[in-house]
Amino acid sequence: MTARKIIIDTDPGQDDAFAILLALASPELTVLGICAVAGNVPLPLTEKNTRIICELAGKPQTRVFSGCDRPLKRPLVTAEHVHGKTGLDGPALPEPTMPLESQHAVDFIIDTLRREPAHSVTLCPLGPLTNIAAAFLKAPDVVGRVQQIVLMGGAYFEVGNITPAAEFNIYVDPDAADVVFKSGVNLVVMPLDVTHKVLTTRKRVEAFRAMGTEVGRMAAEWADFFERFDMEKYGSEGAPLHDPTVIAYLLKPELFKGRHINVEIETTSELTMGMTVADWWGVTGRPANALFVGSVDADGFFALLTERLARL
Ligand code: RIB
Ligand code: CA
Repeated sequence: MTARKIIIDTDPGQDDAFAILLALASPELTVLGICAVAGNVPLPLTEKNTRIICELAGKPQTRVFSGCDRPLKRPLVTAEHVHGKTGLDGPALPEPTMPLESQHAVDFIIDTLRREPAHSVTLCPLGPLTNIAAAFLKAPDVVGRVQQIVLMGGAYFEVGNITPAAEFNIYVDPDAADVVFKSGVNLVVMPLDVTHKVLTTRKRVEAFRAMGTEVGRMAAEWADFFERFDMEKYGSEGAPLHDPTVIAYLLKPELFKGRHINVEIETTSELTMGMTVADWWGVTGRPANALFVGSVDADGFFALLTERLARL
């Protein structure tokens, strides 16, 4: 079976690191490129972190691109309070040695979608949607060539994590999210409703450490750092591993359950800016534009993640 071609768009972020490692460890996927975007931390750090993660995975030949350093319209909001100053706080990190591509990430996305056969490339955004929206706005012809977008972002029953109404990725660039959610592209959304069900419990973190590999050690130490914010805020028994749910969906969609519904983005009211208005009960009559995922087999997710990370 030919491997599925994907482009990852990311703002590492410890949970982004898990997603990138999972993708690079999985032969079912061909990672055409990884695009860094400003989000959890500023762009110079997200692109540097992306290269660190690729080298940790033993894949220094991965093509890494730097993208947009701020949202389409709004000022950048970052999340050092969650991810630390480097964005990958926890373990000591080596300086990356692999090169950064010279092409802008937005142009890489456009050129790749124009070059590859139509409907053969899946976009996997793990951060604010700025790069994706910028590509769609600059080259509308590529929108219809996208196979699928599987993204981490949004919230409905779980409500917001950066404001009472909004999840971070959507909140940082609601205008970009509006472009993507209105694009008509086949869309799968991994909101907090599902990512808050995949928590790094002690047993799961010790399974990372028990690998006895550098990847396992880094994964455990990232989880140890990353969980303190959610444990204090929610009293949960670990941190939600948001972003690897996107890659796990590509590998084992049967782990997840959701509903095809209409989802629109708040882009005007400051009170609810970036809210994903998910019509879960079908009361608006607006056409469905997304598979909004609400539940997951968490043990199955961690079994997949742990088995794959152990391959690196
Ligand atoms: O709200 C969680 C999302 O915001 C995750 O993608 C995390 O990495 C941050 O980007
Ligand atoms: Ca992210």
